[in-house]
Amino acid sequence: MAKYTAAVLTASDKGAAGKREDVSGQLLQELLRREDFAIADYAVIADERELISAKLRRFCDELRVNLVLTTGGTGFSPRDITPEATLDVVERPAPGIAEAMRAASLSITPKAMLSRAAAGIRGRTLIINMPGSPKAVKESFAALIPALSHGLDIMLGITGECAR
Ligand code: MTE
Repeated sequence: MAKYTAAVLTASDKGAAGKREDVSGQLLQELLRREDFAIADYAVIADERELISAKLRRFCDELRVNLVLTTGGTGFSPRDITPEATLDVVERPAPGIAEAMRAASLSITPKAMLSRAAAGIRGRTLIINMPGSPKAVKESFAALIPALSHGLDIMLGITGECAR
């Protein structure tokens, strides 16, 4: 049995309309499986604030997954709304996660500063936004991994405190 459960949400108008294959959502599932996550659900939905926040609530409150990773909709285009939809449902923001992904990504491309990704906790679920391209997903995921399981273990009460 996998150690954690996760859900993946792709925010993409084109993906939701069947006009673009969701390579990044598939990639995120593969990366998560390799890190001992079972994928409980996966969805591709349009860049609509209410649709995204409703799906996030379902993943957190009904499926009760440990982690939700989103991809897409973090940029500057007028339809990009994933961070706002995420912060609508987050109870405790965890800005350091998005900051760390941006910081690591900045050494790869200055365009990393254009991601408005957010992260935070709702109940016993950690939600993290990632940018939309497969390249950005791969790079952001690599930055996340070194601290992710420690954060999840503290959130879930598996680990009590940070070692000093
Ligand atoms: N982060 C990493 N690691 N690698 C990338 O190539 N691309 C950036 C940025 N973050 C990128 C990245 C670009 S070009 C944009 S526009 C923003 O993410 C927002 O992407 P999104 O609108 O697909 O969410």
